[in-house]
Amino acid sequence: MDRSCLAVILAAGDSTRMKSSMSKVLHPIAGRPMIAHVMAAVASTGVRNAALVVGRDADAVAKAGSVEGVSVETVLQTERRGTGHAVLMAKDAIARGYDDVIVTYGDVPLVQSASFAAARRKLAEGADVVVIGFHTDKPTGYGRLLVKDGELTAIREERDATDEERKVIWSNSGLMAINGRKAVSLLEKISNNNAKGEYYLTDLVEIARAEGGKVVAVDAPENEVAGCNNRAELAFLEKLWQERRRHELMVSGVTMIAPETVFLSYDTEIGQDALIEPNVVFGPGVKVEGGVVIHSFSHLEGARVASGATVGPYARLRPGADLAASSKVGNFCEVKNAKIGEGAKVNHLTYIGDASVGSETNIGAGTITCNYDGVNKHHTEIGASAFIGSNSSLVAPVSIGDGAYVASGSVITENVPANALALGRARQEVKPERAKVIRERALALKAAKKAAK
Ligand code: UD1
Ligand code: CA
Repeated sequence: MDRSCLAVILAAGDSTRMKSSMSKVLHPIAGRPMIAHVMAAVASTGVRNAALVVGRDADAVAKAGSVEGVSVETVLQTERRGTGHAVLMAKDAIARGYDDVIVTYGDVPLVQSASFAAARRKLAEGADVVVIGFHTDKPTGYGRLLVKDGELTAIREERDATDEERKVIWSNSGLMAINGRKAVSLLEKISNNNAKGEYYLTDLVEIARAEGGKVVAVDAPENEVAGCNNRAELAFLEKLWQERRRHELMVSGVTMIAPETVFLSYDTEIGQDALIEPNVVFGPGVKVEGGVVIHSFSHLEGARVASGATVGPYARLRPGADLAASSKVGNFCEVKNAKIGEGAKVNHLTYIGDASVGSETNIGAGTITCNYDGVNKHHTEIGASAFIGSNSSLVAPVSIGDGAYVASGSVITENVPANALALGRARQEVKPERAKVIRERALALKAAKKAAK
Protein backbone atom coordinates (compact mmCIF):
# COMPACT_ATOMS: atom_id res chain seq x y z
CA MET A 1 0.00 0.00 0.00
CA ASP A 2 1.55 3.34 -0.96
CA ARG A 3 -0.55 5.35 1.49
CA SER A 4 1.39 6.67 4.47
CA CYS A 5 0.32 5.33 7.84
CA LEU A 6 0.87 6.05 11.51
CA ALA A 7 0.06 3.39 14.10
CA VAL A 8 -0.97 4.60 17.54
CA ILE A 9 -0.59 1.89 20.17
CA LEU A 10 -2.34 2.39 23.51
CA ALA A 11 -0.38 0.90 26.38
CA ALA A 12 -0.78 3.37 29.22
CA GLY A 13 -3.27 1.37 31.26
CA ASP A 14 -2.76 0.67 34.95
CA SER A 15 -3.33 -3.11 34.58
CA THR A 16 -5.22 -3.16 37.87
CA ARG A 17 -6.92 -6.46 37.21
CA MET A 18 -3.62 -8.22 36.42
CA LYS A 19 -2.65 -7.71 40.08
CA SER A 20 0.96 -7.41 39.03
CA SER A 21 4.08 -5.47 39.91
CA MET A 22 4.50 -4.67 36.22
CA SER A 23 2.37 -3.32 33.38
CA LYS A 24 0.33 -6.07 31.75
CA VAL A 25 1.77 -5.36 28.32
CA LEU A 26 5.14 -6.56 29.66
CA HIS A 27 3.76 -9.97 30.54
CA PRO A 28 5.06 -12.53 28.08
CA ILE A 29 3.20 -14.68 25.61
CA ALA A 30 5.36 -17.39 24.05
CA GLY A 31 8.34 -15.91 25.82
CA ARG A 32 8.11 -12.30 24.71
CA PRO A 33 6.21 -9.31 26.06
CA MET A 34 2.69 -8.77 24.76
CA ILE A 35 3.63 -5.32 23.52
CA ALA A 36 6.39 -6.83 21.36
CA HIS A 37 3.82 -9.08 19.68
CA VAL A 38 1.68 -6.05 18.91
CA MET A 39 4.62 -4.13 17.50
CA ALA A 40 5.66 -7.10 15.35
CA ALA A 41 2.13 -7.18 13.89
CA VAL A 42 2.33 -3.45 13.22
CA ALA A 43 5.71 -3.90 11.52
CA SER A 44 4.46 -6.77 9.39
CA THR A 45 1.63 -4.53 8.14
CA GLY A 46 4.29 -2.37 6.52
CA VAL A 47 3.74 0.56 8.86
CA ARG A 48 6.97 2.55 9.31
CA ASN A 49 5.88 5.08 11.94
CA ALA A 50 4.33 4.44 15.31
CA ALA A 51 3.41 6.39 18.42
CA LEU A 52 3.41 4.28 21.55
CA VAL A 53 1.29 5.76 24.34
CA VAL A 54 2.81 4.73 27.65
CA GLY A 55 1.98 5.33 31.31
CA ARG A 56 2.91 2.74 33.90
CA ASP A 57 6.45 1.33 33.52
CA ALA A 58 6.96 3.75 30.64
CA ASP A 59 10.64 3.03 30.07
CA ALA A 60 10.30 -0.74 30.14
CA VAL A 61 7.27 -0.63 27.85
CA ALA A 62 9.07 1.67 25.41
CA LYS A 63 12.06 -0.67 25.37
CA ALA A 64 9.96 -3.80 24.84
CA GLY A 65 8.00 -1.97 22.13
CA SER A 66 10.93 -1.13 19.91
CA VAL A 67 10.90 -3.12 16.71
CA GLU A 68 13.07 -3.30 13.63
CA GLY A 69 11.82 -1.39 10.64
CA VAL A 70 9.50 0.94 12.56
CA SER A 71 10.38 4.35 13.93
CA VAL A 72 8.61 4.36 17.30
CA GLU A 73 8.12 7.53 19.30
CA THR A 74 6.83 7.14 22.82
CA VAL A 75 4.38 9.61 24.31
CA LEU A 76 3.52 9.69 27.96
CA GLN A 77 -0.06 9.80 29.17
CA THR A 78 0.23 10.91 32.77
CA GLU A 79 -3.46 10.45 33.66
CA ARG A 80 -5.84 7.73 32.48
CA ARG A 81 -8.68 9.72 31.00
CA GLY A 82 -9.91 7.26 28.39
CA THR A 83 -8.98 5.80 25.03
CA GLY A 84 -9.90 8.99 23.14
CA HIS A 85 -7.66 11.03 25.42
CA ALA A 86 -4.87 8.47 25.04
CA VAL A 87 -4.92 8.68 21.23
CA LEU A 88 -4.76 12.49 21.41
CA MET A 89 -1.50 12.19 23.36
CA ALA A 90 -0.04 11.38 19.94
CA LYS A 91 -1.52 14.53 18.44
CA ASP A 92 1.84 15.95 17.29
CA ALA A 93 2.61 12.77 15.41
CA ILE A 94 -0.88 12.56 13.88
CA ALA A 95 -0.72 16.23 12.88
CA ARG A 96 2.37 15.56 10.77
CA GLY A 97 -0.15 14.33 8.26
CA TYR A 98 -0.53 10.67 7.36
CA ASP A 99 -3.08 9.22 4.94
CA ASP A 100 -4.07 6.58 7.48
CA VAL A 101 -3.97 6.41 11.26
CA ILE A 102 -4.52 3.03 12.86
CA VAL A 103 -5.20 2.63 16.57
CA THR A 104 -4.40 -0.62 18.32
CA TYR A 105 -4.11 -1.77 21.94
CA GLY A 106 -1.08 -3.11 23.76
CA ASP A 107 -3.23 -5.75 25.42
CA VAL A 108 -4.57 -7.25 22.18
CA PRO A 109 -1.44 -9.20 21.22
CA LEU A 110 -2.69 -11.77 18.72
CA VAL A 111 -3.77 -9.26 16.10
CA GLN A 112 -2.58 -10.02 12.57
CA SER A 113 -1.64 -7.65 9.78
CA ALA A 114 -4.58 -8.79 7.63
CA SER A 115 -7.07 -7.00 9.89
CA PHE A 116 -5.15 -3.73 9.66
CA ALA A 117 -4.84 -4.16 5.91
CA ALA A 118 -8.60 -4.71 5.57
CA ALA A 119 -9.33 -1.58 7.61
CA ARG A 120 -6.88 0.49 5.59
CA ARG A 121 -8.44 -0.68 2.33
CA LYS A 122 -11.72 0.80 3.56
CA LEU A 123 -9.98 4.11 4.22
CA ALA A 124 -8.54 4.00 0.71
CA GLU A 125 -12.08 3.47 -0.59
CA GLY A 126 -13.21 6.66 1.14
CA ALA A 127 -14.22 5.78 4.69
CA ASP A 128 -13.31 8.24 7.45
CA VAL A 129 -13.55 5.85 10.36
CA VAL A 130 -13.22 2.05 10.17
CA VAL A 131 -14.00 -0.03 13.24
CA ILE A 132 -12.67 -3.57 13.57
CA GLY A 133 -15.45 -5.60 15.13
CA PHE A 134 -15.87 -9.26 15.98
CA HIS A 135 -18.69 -11.65 16.73
CA THR A 136 -18.74 -13.36 20.10
CA ASP A 137 -21.17 -15.25 22.27
CA LYS A 138 -19.60 -13.54 25.32
CA PRO A 139 -19.90 -9.81 24.52
CA THR A 140 -20.03 -8.73 28.18
CA GLY A 141 -17.66 -5.85 28.82
CA TYR A 142 -17.18 -4.90 25.18
CA GLY A 143 -18.60 -1.93 23.37
CA ARG A 144 -21.44 -3.00 21.02
CA LEU A 145 -21.62 -2.09 17.36
CA LEU A 146 -25.03 -0.59 16.66
CA VAL A 147 -26.22 -0.88 13.09
CA LYS A 148 -29.16 0.80 11.37
CA ASP A 149 -30.13 0.22 7.74
CA GLY A 150 -26.85 -1.61 7.19
CA GLU A 151 -24.74 1.26 8.53
CA LEU A 152 -22.70 1.44 11.70
CA THR A 153 -24.31 4.25 13.68
CA ALA A 154 -22.61 4.08 17.06
CA ILE A 155 -20.52 2.05 19.48
CA ARG A 156 -22.18 1.77 22.85
CA GLU A 157 -20.06 0.95 25.90
CA GLU A 158 -21.51 -1.78 28.11
CA ARG A 159 -22.15 0.53 31.03
CA ASP A 160 -23.90 3.13 28.84
CA ALA A 161 -26.01 0.59 26.94
CA THR A 162 -29.71 -0.15 27.27
CA ASP A 163 -30.84 -3.73 27.93
CA GLU A 164 -31.77 -4.01 24.28
CA GLU A 165 -28.34 -2.80 23.13
CA ARG A 166 -26.59 -5.23 25.47
CA LYS A 167 -28.13 -8.11 23.53
CA VAL A 168 -26.05 -7.16 20.49
CA ILE A 169 -23.21 -9.65 19.95
CA TRP A 170 -21.25 -7.68 17.37
CA SER A 171 -18.51 -6.20 19.53
CA ASN A 172 -15.80 -3.59 19.32
CA SER A 173 -12.27 -5.00 19.27
CA GLY A 174 -11.00 -1.52 20.07
CA LEU A 175 -8.90 -1.47 16.92
CA MET A 176 -9.74 1.31 14.53
CA ALA A 177 -8.52 3.08 11.41
CA ILE A 178 -9.06 6.81 10.90
CA ASN A 179 -8.66 9.12 7.93
CA GLY A 180 -5.31 10.68 8.82
CA ARG A 181 -6.17 14.10 7.39
CA LYS A 182 -9.26 14.42 9.55
CA ALA A 183 -8.07 12.54 12.63
CA VAL A 184 -7.01 15.47 14.82
CA SER A 185 -10.20 17.47 14.26
CA LEU A 186 -12.39 14.40 14.86
CA LEU A 187 -10.50 13.36 17.99
CA GLU A 188 -10.70 16.86 19.46
CA LYS A 189 -14.49 16.71 19.33
CA ILE A 190 -14.66 13.78 21.79
CA SER A 191 -16.14 14.77 25.16
CA ASN A 192 -16.31 12.93 28.47
CA ASN A 193 -20.05 13.10 28.84
CA ASN A 194 -20.74 9.42 29.72
CA ALA A 195 -21.15 6.94 32.59
CA LYS A 196 -17.39 6.75 33.27
CA GLY A 197 -16.57 10.41 32.70
CA GLU A 198 -13.88 9.33 30.23
CA TYR A 199 -12.99 10.38 26.71
CA TYR A 200 -14.17 7.43 24.61
CA LEU A 201 -12.42 6.81 21.31
CA THR A 202 -15.55 4.98 20.27
CA ASP A 203 -17.45 8.30 20.09
CA LEU A 204 -15.65 8.90 16.78
CA VAL A 205 -18.35 6.86 15.06
CA GLU A 206 -21.12 9.31 15.89
CA ILE A 207 -18.86 12.36 15.54
CA ALA A 208 -17.78 11.43 12.02
CA ARG A 209 -21.34 10.63 10.97
CA ALA A 210 -22.63 13.96 12.31
CA GLU A 211 -20.17 15.63 9.94
CA GLY A 212 -21.43 13.61 7.02
CA GLY A 213 -18.38 11.31 7.09
CA LYS A 214 -18.44 7.66 6.12
CA VAL A 215 -18.11 5.06 8.90
CA VAL A 216 -17.84 1.33 8.32
CA ALA A 217 -17.01 -1.79 10.30
CA VAL A 218 -14.91 -4.76 9.22
CA ASP A 219 -14.97 -8.11 10.92
CA ALA A 220 -12.00 -9.87 12.48
CA PRO A 221 -11.79 -13.42 13.89
CA GLU A 222 -12.63 -13.40 17.61
CA ASN A 223 -9.40 -15.21 18.52
CA GLU A 224 -7.30 -12.51 16.89
CA VAL A 225 -8.71 -9.61 18.85
CA ALA A 226 -9.02 -11.27 22.25
CA GLY A 227 -7.73 -8.94 24.94
CA CYS A 228 -5.98 -9.47 28.25
CA ASN A 229 -7.21 -8.02 31.51
CA ASN A 230 -6.24 -10.73 34.02
CA ARG A 231 -4.02 -13.80 34.36
CA ALA A 232 -6.74 -16.19 33.26
CA GLU A 233 -7.05 -14.28 30.00
CA LEU A 234 -3.26 -14.24 29.74
CA ALA A 235 -3.25 -18.05 29.90
CA PHE A 236 -6.05 -18.16 27.32
CA LEU A 237 -4.07 -15.94 24.93
CA GLU A 238 -1.03 -18.17 25.41
CA LYS A 239 -3.17 -21.16 24.47
CA LEU A 240 -4.49 -19.42 21.36
CA TRP A 241 -0.99 -18.37 20.35
CA GLN A 242 0.38 -21.89 20.82
CA GLU A 243 -2.45 -23.41 18.79
CA ARG A 244 -1.91 -20.97 15.96
CA ARG A 245 1.86 -21.49 15.80
CA ARG A 246 1.67 -25.29 16.07
CA HIS A 247 -0.80 -25.28 13.24
CA GLU A 248 1.51 -23.15 11.08
CA LEU A 249 4.42 -25.50 11.76
CA MET A 250 2.41 -28.64 11.04
CA VAL A 251 1.10 -27.19 7.80
CA SER A 252 4.70 -26.36 6.88
CA GLY A 253 5.70 -30.04 7.24
CA VAL A 254 6.54 -30.63 10.90
CA THR A 255 5.02 -33.74 12.51
CA MET A 256 3.68 -33.44 16.04
CA ILE A 257 2.08 -36.54 17.53
CA ALA A 258 0.31 -34.67 20.31
CA PRO A 259 0.57 -31.00 19.34
CA GLU A 260 -1.36 -29.84 22.39
CA THR A 261 1.59 -30.98 24.55
CA VAL A 262 4.30 -29.17 22.59
CA PHE A 263 5.15 -25.64 23.76
CA LEU A 264 6.83 -23.22 21.40
CA SER A 265 8.50 -19.85 21.79
CA TYR A 266 7.81 -16.82 19.65
CA ASP A 267 10.98 -17.50 17.63
CA THR A 268 11.05 -21.31 17.48
CA GLU A 269 12.04 -22.53 14.02
CA ILE A 270 11.50 -26.14 12.99
CA GLY A 271 12.30 -27.55 9.57
CA GLN A 272 10.36 -29.86 7.32
CA ASP A 273 10.03 -33.52 8.26
CA ALA A 274 11.13 -32.91 11.83
CA LEU A 275 9.25 -35.12 14.29
CA ILE A 276 8.34 -33.64 17.65
CA GLU A 277 7.11 -36.23 20.12
CA PRO A 278 4.69 -35.43 22.96
CA ASN A 279 5.68 -33.19 25.85
CA VAL A 280 8.50 -31.15 24.41
CA VAL A 281 9.19 -27.57 25.50
CA PHE A 282 10.99 -25.00 23.37
CA GLY A 283 12.38 -21.97 25.19
CA PRO A 284 13.53 -18.96 23.19
CA GLY A 285 16.21 -19.11 20.51
CA VAL A 286 15.81 -22.65 19.20
CA LYS A 287 16.43 -23.60 15.60
CA VAL A 288 15.67 -27.18 14.60
CA GLU A 289 16.50 -28.24 11.05
CA GLY A 290 14.67 -30.74 8.89
CA GLY A 291 14.48 -34.43 9.65
CA VAL A 292 15.37 -34.02 13.31
CA VAL A 293 13.64 -36.18 15.91
CA ILE A 294 12.94 -34.65 19.32
CA HIS A 295 11.82 -37.42 21.63
CA SER A 296 9.42 -36.86 24.52
CA PHE A 297 10.11 -34.80 27.62
CA SER A 298 12.96 -32.80 26.17
CA HIS A 299 13.55 -29.14 26.99
CA LEU A 300 15.44 -26.96 24.50
CA GLU A 301 16.54 -23.36 24.85
CA GLY A 302 18.99 -21.27 22.80
CA ALA A 303 20.00 -24.36 20.85
CA ARG A 304 20.57 -25.35 17.24
CA VAL A 305 19.87 -28.90 16.11
CA ALA A 306 21.09 -29.70 12.60
CA SER A 307 19.42 -32.01 10.13
CA GLY A 308 18.95 -35.63 11.03
CA ALA A 309 20.05 -35.24 14.64
CA THR A 310 18.18 -36.96 17.48
CA VAL A 311 17.42 -35.50 20.89
CA GLY A 312 16.02 -37.15 24.01
CA PRO A 313 13.89 -38.54 25.45
CA TYR A 314 14.50 -36.47 28.59
CA ALA A 315 17.27 -34.33 27.14
CA ARG A 316 18.01 -30.78 28.11
CA LEU A 317 19.66 -28.48 25.60
CA ARG A 318 20.69 -25.18 27.14
CA PRO A 319 21.87 -21.98 25.46
CA GLY A 320 24.78 -22.48 23.11
CA ALA A 321 24.09 -26.18 22.51
CA ASP A 322 24.93 -26.74 18.87
CA LEU A 323 24.26 -30.24 17.54
CA ALA A 324 25.69 -31.01 14.11
CA ALA A 325 23.95 -33.18 11.53
CA SER A 326 23.14 -36.76 12.52
CA SER A 327 24.46 -36.36 16.04
CA LYS A 328 22.63 -37.86 19.02
CA VAL A 329 21.96 -36.52 22.49
CA GLY A 330 20.06 -39.13 24.43
CA ASN A 331 18.23 -39.61 27.70
CA PHE A 332 19.10 -37.61 30.79
CA CYS A 333 21.82 -35.65 29.03
CA GLU A 334 22.42 -31.94 29.45
CA VAL A 335 24.35 -29.93 26.87
CA LYS A 336 25.27 -26.28 27.41
CA ASN A 337 27.47 -23.97 25.33
CA ALA A 338 28.92 -26.93 23.48
CA LYS A 339 29.30 -28.13 19.93
CA ILE A 340 28.48 -31.76 19.26
CA GLY A 341 30.12 -32.83 15.99
CA GLU A 342 28.56 -34.60 13.07
CA GLY A 343 27.54 -38.15 13.93
CA ALA A 344 28.81 -37.83 17.50
CA LYS A 345 26.88 -39.63 20.23
CA VAL A 346 26.15 -38.44 23.75
CA ASN A 347 23.66 -41.06 24.67
CA HIS A 348 23.16 -41.48 28.39
CA LEU A 349 23.26 -39.54 31.65
CA THR A 350 25.90 -37.05 30.66
CA TYR A 351 26.74 -33.38 31.15
CA ILE A 352 28.62 -31.63 28.35
CA GLY A 353 29.18 -27.96 29.14
CA ASP A 354 31.60 -25.42 27.64
CA ALA A 355 32.98 -28.04 25.33
CA SER A 356 33.50 -29.11 21.79
CA VAL A 357 33.04 -32.72 20.72
CA GLY A 358 34.48 -33.81 17.35
CA SER A 359 32.65 -35.74 14.68
CA GLU A 360 31.91 -39.45 15.23
CA THR A 361 33.11 -39.32 18.82
CA ASN A 362 31.32 -41.48 21.38
CA ILE A 363 30.73 -40.13 24.86
CA GLY A 364 30.04 -42.96 27.29
CA ALA A 365 27.28 -43.03 29.87
CA GLY A 366 27.76 -40.80 32.88
CA THR A 367 30.54 -38.64 31.42
CA ILE A 368 30.85 -35.23 33.03
CA THR A 369 32.78 -32.22 31.79
CA CYS A 370 33.85 -30.55 35.04
CA ASN A 371 33.70 -27.05 33.62
CA TYR A 372 33.38 -25.00 36.78
CA ASP A 373 35.98 -24.54 39.49
CA GLY A 374 33.68 -22.58 41.74
CA VAL A 375 34.80 -19.28 40.23
CA ASN A 376 35.48 -19.63 36.50
CA LYS A 377 34.21 -21.76 33.65
CA HIS A 378 36.73 -23.70 31.56
CA HIS A 379 36.65 -25.38 28.17
CA THR A 380 36.95 -29.06 27.28
CA GLU A 381 38.09 -29.92 23.78
CA ILE A 382 37.40 -33.43 22.51
CA GLY A 383 38.61 -34.40 19.04
CA ALA A 384 37.04 -36.49 16.32
CA SER A 385 36.46 -40.26 16.53
CA ALA A 386 37.48 -40.33 20.17
CA PHE A 387 35.98 -42.66 22.75
CA ILE A 388 35.24 -41.52 26.27
CA GLY A 389 34.60 -44.48 28.57
CA SER A 390 31.61 -44.46 30.87
CA ASN A 391 31.64 -42.53 34.10
CA SER A 392 34.60 -40.37 33.24
CA SER A 393 35.16 -36.90 34.64
CA LEU A 394 36.98 -34.52 32.30
CA VAL A 395 38.36 -31.71 34.45
CA ALA A 396 38.55 -28.57 32.34
CA PRO A 397 40.56 -26.97 30.91
CA VAL A 398 41.57 -30.16 29.19
CA SER A 399 41.79 -31.58 25.70
CA ILE A 400 41.40 -35.09 24.32
CA GLY A 401 42.93 -35.66 20.89
CA ASP A 402 41.43 -37.27 17.79
CA GLY A 403 41.02 -41.02 18.07
CA ALA A 404 42.03 -41.08 21.75
CA TYR A 405 40.55 -43.47 24.32
CA VAL A 406 39.66 -42.57 27.85
CA ALA A 407 39.24 -45.60 30.08
CA SER A 408 35.97 -45.91 31.99
CA GLY A 409 35.86 -44.31 35.38
CA SER A 410 38.79 -42.00 34.70
CA VAL A 411 39.29 -38.57 36.15
CA ILE A 412 41.16 -36.76 33.39
CA THR A 413 43.13 -33.72 34.50
CA GLU A 414 45.87 -33.68 31.86
CA ASN A 415 45.63 -33.38 28.09
CA VAL A 416 45.41 -36.65 26.16
CA PRO A 417 47.21 -36.68 22.78
CA ALA A 418 45.63 -38.07 19.63
CA ASN A 419 45.30 -41.85 19.52
CA ALA A 420 46.55 -42.25 23.12
CA LEU A 421 44.85 -44.32 25.82
CA ALA A 422 44.40 -42.49 29.11
CA LEU A 423 43.68 -44.24 32.38
CA GLY A 424 42.97 -42.02 35.33
CA ARG A 425 41.75 -44.48 37.92
CA ALA A 426 43.05 -46.81 40.63
CA ARG A 427 44.50 -50.07 39.35
CA GLN A 428 42.25 -53.05 39.98
CA GLU A 429 43.31 -55.59 42.60
CA VAL A 430 41.87 -59.12 42.71
CA LYS A 431 42.07 -61.17 45.95
CA PRO A 432 41.17 -64.82 45.33
CA GLU A 433 38.68 -66.42 47.80
CA ARG A 434 38.44 -63.20 49.77
CA ALA A 435 34.71 -62.73 49.09
CA LYS A 436 33.97 -66.09 50.63
CA VAL A 437 35.84 -65.17 53.83
CA ILE A 438 33.91 -61.92 54.17
CA ARG A 439 30.58 -63.61 53.55
CA GLU A 440 31.22 -66.34 56.13
CA ARG A 441 32.22 -63.77 58.72
CA ALA A 442 28.98 -61.84 58.08
CA LEU A 443 26.81 -64.93 58.35
CA ALA A 444 28.50 -65.93 61.63
CA LEU A 445 27.79 -62.46 63.07
CA LYS A 446 24.12 -62.69 62.08
CA ALA A 447 23.79 -66.16 63.72
CA ALA A 448 25.43 -64.91 66.94
CA LYS A 449 22.97 -61.98 67.15
CA LYS A 450 20.00 -64.31 66.70
CA ALA A 451 21.23 -66.71 69.42
CA ALA A 452 21.66 -63.79 71.89
CA LYS A 453 17.94 -62.81 71.65
C1 UD1 B 1 -12.35 -0.52 25.08
C2 UD1 B 1 -13.43 0.06 24.16
C3 UD1 B 1 -14.53 -0.99 23.97
C4 UD1 B 1 -13.93 -2.24 23.40
C5 UD1 B 1 -12.78 -2.74 24.27
C6 UD1 B 1 -12.06 -3.87 23.59
C7 UD1 B 1 -13.51 2.46 24.53
C8 UD1 B 1 -14.22 3.56 25.20
N1 UD1 B 1 -13.97 1.23 24.77
O1 UD1 B 1 -12.92 -0.74 26.35
O2 UD1 B 1 -15.52 -0.50 23.10
O3 UD1 B 1 -14.92 -3.23 23.26
O4 UD1 B 1 -11.81 -1.69 24.50
O5 UD1 B 1 -11.11 -4.45 24.46
O6 UD1 B 1 -12.56 2.68 23.82
N2 UD1 B 1 -5.71 3.07 27.60
C9 UD1 B 1 -4.78 4.07 27.70
N3 UD1 B 1 -5.13 5.22 28.32
C10 UD1 B 1 -6.36 5.44 28.84
C11 UD1 B 1 -7.32 4.42 28.71
C12 UD1 B 1 -6.97 3.24 28.09
O7 UD1 B 1 -3.64 3.91 27.26
O8 UD1 B 1 -6.58 6.52 29.35
C13 UD1 B 1 -5.34 1.82 26.93
C14 UD1 B 1 -5.32 0.62 27.85
O9 UD1 B 1 -4.05 0.42 28.37
C15 UD1 B 1 -5.70 -0.52 26.92
C16 UD1 B 1 -6.62 0.16 25.91
O10 UD1 B 1 -6.32 1.53 25.96
O11 UD1 B 1 -4.59 -1.03 26.23
C17 UD1 B 1 -8.10 -0.10 26.18
O12 UD1 B 1 -8.46 0.47 27.41
P1 UD1 B 1 -9.47 -0.24 28.38
O13 UD1 B 1 -9.64 0.61 29.57
O14 UD1 B 1 -9.04 -1.64 28.61
O15 UD1 B 1 -10.80 -0.19 27.51
P2 UD1 B 1 -12.08 -1.07 27.69
O16 UD1 B 1 -12.89 -0.55 28.81
O17 UD1 B 1 -11.72 -2.49 27.71
CA1 CA C 1 -9.71 -3.72 27.90
